[in-house]
Amino acid sequence: MYTALRPLLFAVGPETAHTFAALAARTAQRVTPFLLDRMFEYAHPALSQDLFGLTFTNPVGLAAGFDKNARLVPFFRHAGAGFVEIGSVTARKSRGNPRPRLFRLPEDEALINRMGLGNHGARRIAPRVARQAGRRTWPLGVNIAKTHDPHIMGDDALDDFVQSFRLLAPVADYITLNVSCPNTAEGKTFEDPNAFDDLLAAIMRSAADLKRRPPILVKFSPPDTERFVLDSLFDELLLVAQAHGVDGFVATNTAPDREGLTADPIRIASMGKGGLSGRPIARRSDGLVRYIHRKTGGKTPIVGVGGIDSAESAYRKIKAGASLVQIYTGLVYHGPGLFRSIKEGLVRLLEEDGHSSIKHAVGVEA
Ligand code: FNR
Repeated sequence: MYTALRPLLFAVGPETAHTFAALAARTAQRVTPFLLDRMFEYAHPALSQDLFGLTFTNPVGLAAGFDKNARLVPFFRHAGAGFVEIGSVTARKSRGNPRPRLFRLPEDEALINRMGLGNHGARRIAPRVARQAGRRTWPLGVNIAKTHDPHIMGDDALDDFVQSFRLLAPVADYITLNVSCPNTAEGKTFEDPNAFDDLLAAIMRSAADLKRRPPILVKFSPPDTERFVLDSLFDELLLVAQAHGVDGFVATNTAPDREGLTADPIRIASMGKGGLSGRPIARRSDGLVRYIHRKTGGKTPIVGVGGIDSAESAYRKIKAGASLVQIYTGLVYHGPGLFRSIKEGLVRLLEEDGHSSIKHAVGVEA
């Protein structure tokens, strides 16, 4: 069905198309949830795993940024996603950057965005999360970030981050700290080891007051190249994360550069700044997944994200060391049927390799 709809969606600007798609998804989740179940249902025991105290009946989730305000969670549950990560949510609500701020590169199946963390704010979003989270076998993660305001710096930036954590951690099934969003004017402040250490110390102090501490994951940027073999700065980040007892990693966010694109360079340049996602970043995020898996001895679960558009590309992330995967740009180009086709394809690929469970394939090529 998406093949028929795509030309219509692509005839309008990418943000208008997103608004249409979101409206259709909200209508479908309210009016025809059973139809969605019928269209997208696919389950297989080989795909089920228990990770950081949560049960994932399948490993294919929705990446952060698509449902920033937690409005489409039922749609993705009925569309067969194994889990959803909403957000990024920030302490203060924000409209994000001025438009245009989202661009398609169909020839590369890529997107460039500088959305700038527009969202309704932690206080408004927390009750929506509370209504949808807490299902035993269907985790709802919340991705939090620092408010998109370059004037919030230093201790104020920590307080801002912790404020979102305090409001959302009690209701979320897991929390992802987005330390890698390239869309903020002040740059990647929390991917510096000292700032990262301060952030994790503040978050873990706040977590100690909770009745139940949700699993805490950290989301990183992609490396410059696929052949990511030794990086002392990144090693420091990993050591800091381990010292604070981080439960998992999400690799990766969008890339700030324009590597791997075949589209016309003048058109690319006309789009301006923003994070690159989709097929061109796939191999680089595979590289970081592999690196983290090796460095942590496979003991800390990794969510692999970046350029997944098929069962084959999802399987590459899994063999590199990802226990779970997420999709965003692939959804724009292939539609929500991608969840089902990845799941079906993964079961076939696991069988071909003689694995009775996805668990046995994680990191086999790390
Ligand atoms: C994103 N992504 C993102 N990530 C995040 O942690 N917080 C966010 O708010 C957003 N927002 C966002 C908006 C748009 C328009 C895009 C395309 C992406 C990054 C996303 O979750 C994912 O990490 C990357 O896009 C790589 O995966 P794909 O898109 O190649 O599957």
